[in-house]
Amino acid sequence: MTDTKPVPVLEAKDIVAGYGEVDILHGVSVTVHSGEMVAIIGPNGAGKSTLLRTIFGLLDARGGQVRLKGEDITNRAPDQLVLCGLSYVPQVDNVFPSLTILENLEMGAFVRQDGLAERLDRVFSLFPDLTDRRGEKAGKLSGGQRQMLALGRALMLDPDVLLLDEPSASLSPKMVELIFDRINLINSEGTGILLVEQNANEALSACDRGYVLAMGENRLEGEAKSLLDNEEVGKLYLGT
Ligand SMILES: Nc1ncnc2c1ncn2[C@@H]1O[C@H](COP(=O)(O)OP(=O)(O)OP(=O)(O)O)[C@@H](O)[C@H]1O
Ligand SMILES: [Mg+2]
Repeated sequence: MTDTKPVPVLEAKDIVAGYGEVDILHGVSVTVHSGEMVAIIGPNGAGKSTLLRTIFGLLDARGGQVRLKGEDITNRAPDQLVLCGLSYVPQVDNVFPSLTILENLEMGAFVRQDGLAERLDRVFSLFPDLTDRRGEKAGKLSGGQRQMLALGRALMLDPDVLLLDEPSASLSPKMVELIFDRINLINSEGTGILLVEQNANEALSACDRGYVLAMGENRLEGEAKSLLDNEEVGKLYLGT
């Protein structure tokens, strides 16, 4: 019999990475299947951001492999990865404050000028708040609007997979709801999402599956619903 399992859109396998002499990730694996929205939760310093940075080629993988739509992209540079269909929104410094909203979005698409107008239209329809302010400097935006702009920038290349590092950090509960609503919509339109969150409850409620990382290792994984019901997750991350 032939193996008919579909190829995951993103697969990071046995990733080893770190800073200087020190390994932070000791063989971490995560997978995003087509159309999935996947959460990574875990305590401060677990290596969640390090994992996203390694997948996006900002940090060398010292071991393991990253595959995008089946293709080996391990240690490929970020400017190459965006062309292959991977986008990344870092937790901080994710917009250029001295540029306008429109300039930020255009910069997001700098390597791909075809269909620019359509993609701008899509971003503005996802985030109407940005539409009327397109000529304003990004530095004048509120935290929530800045996060919308960062998401919009990442969408300007129409990625197959979006890596998001704590999109709800330091936002008001109302804004968290709105941002998650938009991320869900982006996902429902076909973009795979791999999302790191402190807000475990919100993340697991929104996602299909989840991983718990601790001390640079996979600790738990499963359907998001079953993780929400898991006693250890409840105690450590949900305050239940
Ligand atoms: N640039 C760096 N140089 C050296 N060590 C770093 C660097 N960035 C992170 N680390 C260390 O790597 C470990 C993992 O950090 P990382 O930021 O990946 O964790 P995290 O799970 O994202 O945590 P948080 O929930 O606080 O964002 C921590 O011990 C941190 O101190
Ligand atoms: Mg982090």
